[in-house]
Amino acid sequence: MDVSITSVPRWIFLAIVVTLASLESSVAQFPWTKEPSSPMIVVEGVNNTNVRLEWDYDAAFRRLIVGIKIFRKGGGSEKLIARKSGEGTINPTTLDLVDRNQDGREYEVVEPATLVLKDVNNNEEYEYVISVDYFPTSSSPQTTDSKSVFVEVKVPPKITTKPLNTRSEIGANVTLTCEASGDPLPNITWTREGATTNQLDNVTGPSFDLVAVRLIDAGSYRCTAENGYGTVTEVASTVFWPSGPHQCSADVWDEGTTQCNTSTVGIRITEGAVWVDSLANLNSAEFSGLANNLTVAISSPYSRPENEDKRPYQILVKEFSRGSVRARVEMEFPSTLPDPLKPLRDAVQSGKLGMFTVDRELVINPTRSPPQSSTGSTQESKIPPDAGKRTSGLSNDIIWAIIGSCIAVVVIVAIIIIVCCVVRKKQSPGGSKGLYTEADGYRM
Ligand SMILES: *[C@@H]1O[C@H](CO)[C@@H](O)[C@H](O)[C@H]1NC(C)=O
Ligand SMILES: *[C@@H]1O[C@H](CO)[C@@H](O)[C@H](O)[C@H]1NC(C)=O
Ligand SMILES: *[C@@H]1O[C@H](CO)[C@@H](O)[C@H](O)[C@H]1NC(C)=O
Ligand SMILES: *[C@@H]1O[C@H](CO)[C@@H](O)[C@H](O)[C@H]1NC(C)=O
Ligand SMILES: *[C@@H]1O[C@H](CO)[C@@H](O)[C@H](O)[C@H]1NC(C)=O
Ligand SMILES: *[C@@H]1O[C@H](CO)[C@@H](O)[C@H](O)[C@H]1NC(C)=O
Repeated sequence: MDVSITSVPRWIFLAIVVTLASLESSVAQFPWTKEPSSPMIVVEGVNNTNVRLEWDYDAAFRRLIVGIKIFRKGGGSEKLIARKSGEGTINPTTLDLVDRNQDGREYEVVEPATLVLKDVNNNEEYEYVISVDYFPTSSSPQTTDSKSVFVEVKVPPKITTKPLNTRSEIGANVTLTCEASGDPLPNITWTREGATTNQLDNVTGPSFDLVAVRLIDAGSYRCTAENGYGTVTEVASTVFWPSGPHQCSADVWDEGTTQCNTSTVGIRITEGAVWVDSLANLNSAEFSGLANNLTVAISSPYSRPENEDKRPYQILVKEFSRGSVRARVEMEFPSTLPDPLKPLRDAVQSGKLGMFTVDRELVINPTRSPPQSSTGSTQESKIPPDAGKRTSGLSNDIIWAIIGSCIAVVVIVAIIIIVCCVVRKKQSPGGSKGLYTEADGYRM
């Protein structure tokens, strides 16, 4: 009991000391309760609008504040954005926006101390500072405390130079180029669509050299630009054919003509291509896109080692027509080759040609299609049965109509007969006077 009685005043004294000390220290330090983390990263096109820089402080100390201002630093200058001033008097009014850039479209201020950046662009990377003038205690001199945040702007990658679709002779060096902008500057990597090639080990950077290309290198190459804030890709297709004299065209009358033999094939694509009218136009983007993909698909069976000796000089898509999409393709081969179309025929027989699903039959020398009509004898021979089905369908309707009307006639006739019978039966037992007299009349 004695001990506890003497210890009570000590505890009270200690408690007072600690409370005073903590009050002193909390007043000496401006009591921030919230501040944005620095650097604040914003990504252009993602979250660069209405960026909130939020500060806050213990409301109990509001009465000790004389003034608050928010300004930005950068490019060697300072610019005041917002100010709340008590002009020496304690407890100032609301935080006013001093510099209403573009009529307040650039900034907005929200109580108690939030700055909203309406739209931050890449050239607007600044340090934003909030500074508070206050009296730590009623007896101490006015003090200033400040906090700052860096706003960093990142820009997702954007491809500025797309890699071009490329056609080239085998053995040539081919450079694909893909350039991209962004902040930070994106890394560019190259990959091959589908198949692999030994030319592509860890290729990075805006240009990609295919050295001494082989038919097996033909295909689609994808460049990917990535900078940690986005990823974009572009694909270019490449087509290669053997070099050497291969003048197949009729206007060349030198010995080149004899070295080349042109084969024309018809391929019907059922999946992997959809007919659009612009495919009829050789100059359309749709035509060249599909022609490129089909050329890559046709060259794929020839890039197998066992078909090396049958490689075409040239693969030329001459025409697309409806149904689903039919292609007429000219292929130029060395004239000495036995059955150069075999690799393509075999591939088509599997129903798959590269990215396309195709009719299992390769049409040799398909007829050139007049506009809106089909090419290929096989395809043409398919049309009469279709038409036949349609006409037989029509005649079926007619037959059913005839049968229907026959049944109707039979039913009507049957009803008439039944009605007549009923009437006669009624006549024989009782009968009506009128009829009797008529019958009598006949008898007379
Ligand atoms: C904006 O987005 C980036 C990445 O998505 C993120 O790191 C950053 O914190 C975001 N900034 C804001 C202000 O939300
Ligand atoms: C292709 O590039 C290689 C080396 O990069 C060079 O040796 C060769 O001569 C080039 N070929 C052509 C056809 O330019
Ligand atoms: C490609 O990169 C991987 C890892 O990044 C590495 O293991 C490999 O050796 C590289 N290949 C070449 C050919 O540089
Ligand atoms: C680019 O790649 C390198 C190596 O992988 C990496 O250190 C760097 O951060 C990347 N740069 C960007 C912008 O992603
Ligand atoms: C060509 O193939 C690529 C994929 O390899 C595809 O993205 C593109 O749409 C195709 N183009 C046409 C016109 O079929
Ligand atoms: C072209 O090849 C075919 C067989 O594929 C052959 O019948 C024809 O005689 C050849 N023509 C020439 C000019 O070599």
